[in-house]
Amino acid sequence: MLSLLSFLFLPFFYLPYSASGYGSMGPISAAFGNNEDVAFFCAIDASGKQAIICWNTDDSSPEKLPNNFDVGVSMAALSGGGGFMCGILSNTSQAYCWGALDLGTNLVPNVYRSNNYSRIAAGRNHVCAIRGSYYVGNDHDHGVVDCWDVFNVGNSGKLNSQQSTLFYDQNVSNLMFESIVSGEGFSCGGVKDGGGVLCWGPTSYNLGISKISENFLEFSCSKSSFCGISQGSGEVKCWGKNDSYPKPPSGTRFVTLTGGSNHFCGIREDNHGVECWGDFNSSLVPRGSGFYAISASDIVTCGIRELDLVLDCWFVNNTNVPPEYDPPLQLCSPGLCSPRSCNVGEFRFNASTLSEPDLTSLCIRKDLNICSRCGSNCSEGFFLSSSCTENADRICSPCSLCQNSSCWGVCGLEKAEMKQRRKRQMQKIVLILGPSISGFLLILVGWCLFPYLFFFKGKDGPKKKFRSCMGKKDEESNGDADPNPPVAVPQCPGEAQIFRLSELKDATNGFKEFNELGRGSYGFVYKAVLTDGRQVAVKRANAATIIHTNIRDFELELEILCKLRHCNIVNLLGYCTEMGERILVYEYMSHGTLHDHLHGGLSPLNWTVRLRIAMQAAKGLEYLHMEANPPVVHRDIKTFNILLDSDWGARISDFGLSNLNEKDLDEEMMNDVYNFGIVLLEILSGRKAYDVDYSPPNIVEWAVPLIRKGKAAATIDRYVALPRNVEPLLRLADMAESAVRENSGDRPTMSVLAHALESIVKEGLML
Ligand SMILES: *[C@@H]1O[C@H](CO)[C@@H](O)[C@H](O)[C@H]1NC(C)=O
Ligand SMILES: *[C@@H]1O[C@H](CO)[C@@H](O)[C@H](O)[C@H]1NC(C)=O
Ligand SMILES: *[C@@H]1O[C@H](CO)[C@@H](O)[C@H](O)[C@H]1NC(C)=O
Ligand SMILES: *[C@@H]1O[C@H](CO)[C@@H](O)[C@H](O)[C@H]1NC(C)=O
Ligand SMILES: *[C@@H]1O[C@H](CO)[C@@H](O)[C@H](O)[C@H]1NC(C)=O
Repeated sequence: MLSLLSFLFLPFFYLPYSASGYGSMGPISAAFGNNEDVAFFCAIDASGKQAIICWNTDDSSPEKLPNNFDVGVSMAALSGGGGFMCGILSNTSQAYCWGALDLGTNLVPNVYRSNNYSRIAAGRNHVCAIRGSYYVGNDHDHGVVDCWDVFNVGNSGKLNSQQSTLFYDQNVSNLMFESIVSGEGFSCGGVKDGGGVLCWGPTSYNLGISKISENFLEFSCSKSSFCGISQGSGEVKCWGKNDSYPKPPSGTRFVTLTGGSNHFCGIREDNHGVECWGDFNSSLVPRGSGFYAISASDIVTCGIRELDLVLDCWFVNNTNVPPEYDPPLQLCSPGLCSPRSCNVGEFRFNASTLSEPDLTSLCIRKDLNICSRCGSNCSEGFFLSSSCTENADRICSPCSLCQNSSCWGVCGLEKAEMKQRRKRQMQKIVLILGPSISGFLLILVGWCLFPYLFFFKGKDGPKKKFRSCMGKKDEESNGDADPNPPVAVPQCPGEAQIFRLSELKDATNGFKEFNELGRGSYGFVYKAVLTDGRQVAVKRANAATIIHTNIRDFELELEILCKLRHCNIVNLLGYCTEMGERILVYEYMSHGTLHDHLHGGLSPLNWTVRLRIAMQAAKGLEYLHMEANPPVVHRDIKTFNILLDSDWGARISDFGLSNLNEKDLDEEMMNDVYNFGIVLLEILSGRKAYDVDYSPPNIVEWAVPLIRKGKAAATIDRYVALPRNVEPLLRLADMAESAVRENSGDRPTMSVLAHALESIVKEGLML
């Protein structure tokens, strides 16, 4: 599958130039290679242990590297060289370097092994590091630079190292440094206390300058050029051989840089997007996602996405691009753990927003922080849905979820255009409320008295106008729909809200079991109490669901769910897509499922309530079939999926998405009618849809012959006091019978059923 390395392993003459990668140390780094060297990437993982994961993988390679190998050490920072990787050990601050083919051998010369280092930078064949404890940084010799050479031992592929004489420079040894990078045959260091940058080494003359008086936020180099982010302007400035320091973008502020041999890439300060300059194909650079850290080699650049801390890699150009290249699906640390506190404009990464239970920090030492620059702005196609805080970066949501004027501008949408675009999208798909999790006890926020008026269309002859939401008030009134409906207190939720992950985590006690309401193939459902006191049900997709469903489909589904609003469905209140999560927040239904009341020992409902539930469930389904755009079919209507709110109102629940053509749509709707007929039979008889205590056990086979023989009374639940007049119940039986007819063309539509049930409820029962 991963064939990158088959390319990297090819002998030198196949390559356009040597594969290389240069940069300052970071949480992710590329070890580059040519000839016998092997290229690989390593990153610090997000397990809280600062473990190192490396990847490259090519099973066909003669010099096989294990796929996804774990170095077995814990590192504070990484920097890759030619076929080797260096890091600073997190427990001791000592340097450790290892070759791709010889993980166990430390390529730090003996004389330097017991030193502490605060910074390390591996170049093509050498390493320079700055002395001082990584964590404290106030040792007496903090700032002194040590350099060593790394070289091949014959043709074995093994490497060795020695103290460097090539990189010994009297000027350098007299100075104290605070930052360092290494290129091919040169290193550059930032002199302490704003002393500018000094470059040295056998090829440093290529830069055309040995001392730069400017100070930089961060710098990086390519094969023979140097670029830095200017401390004042945030813009990039470069030095080097004419052909090797391509023009950096001007007017753009950057937060970090990485270099390949003939190109640079940087992360923009505003939207955390990647910009590259030099020899690269811009159409391969990822758009639409921000990054926390990146590292370049000549061939491929990898980064840690801000969306979900997942690795994403892209090629520099189209030469020798392997057909497939996927980095491992592993979460990586977004930055380096550091003892400093975060500055203004930065946020401290809060590990408890990750899905891992009990993970409170990504750093081994809890007194360390990962500080990253806040983004201010989102990539194209996304809008800012939540600003940066001390503990979290700003959040960008896809423009497809833009719902109001606050994001029209940035999403490039005019109101009319947005509506049109939505409509077009909607017409392409049909929502299925399908089997995903059964037995959710979703509960209600408040009774919906909002008089929702609409027209229904379909096969039922002339269009009729009626109220879809009848509350208690309507029951008492009789006759036709009120021509002057009261101006409602709109308790029906309006637009979907975007929730912060931290908020939902707090509200569910960290997604703990005792908050669990149900589980299914989609994931878990939790009961949660928001800070404003609202009770909600939180439905959280598990990893399998996230991996197996495409994010675009999810967004489209969300967009449709956000638009569904009715008093007889469980409405979506909001969602959270932070950190790659897919969490839906629904109204909480305090009286549980209809199933548990009819069959599960909860209070058996009286006839008035049962009839009203039948009517309301019918209206919920009718809304989904007739009013929702695109039409929605449920495909799993059963008493488990009819929930009862705190006022005993019925709500249709359980949502999924699928594509359906027109013809199937009609068929699926009539299947919903059939299943609803079974629900009516359960309401009428109080027996389960399949019950071995009855003969036949199937409720349809049992009840329909009785109803057809005029013995519908024999199907009525005798455990509930009968009304004086059972005629309405006999009409219910007739309705159920018509809904479960074999030939779907003989079944009534949901509109017909809803209307008929409505008249039964309005006429009332004589109890
Ligand atoms: C530090 O970590 C390394 C690698 O995991 C280990 O070999 C070494 O013993 C540790 N040193 C101390 C002092 O814990
Ligand atoms: C850049 O990459 C795109 C996408 O793979 C490709 O279509 C295009 O031809 C490439 N351009 C160049 C100059 O190689
Ligand atoms: C915001 O991001 C867009 C790209 O989505 C970019 O073009 C624009 O310059 C940025 N604006 C600011 C003020 O940073
Ligand atoms: C627009 O919608 C977002 C998200 O639903 C919400 O947070 C924001 O307050 C709304 N803004 C306006 C102006 O209505
Ligand atoms: C991290 O987020 C959690 C909520 O998920 C919050 O309770 C905690 O206080 C945050 N940690 C810090 C250090 O702010």
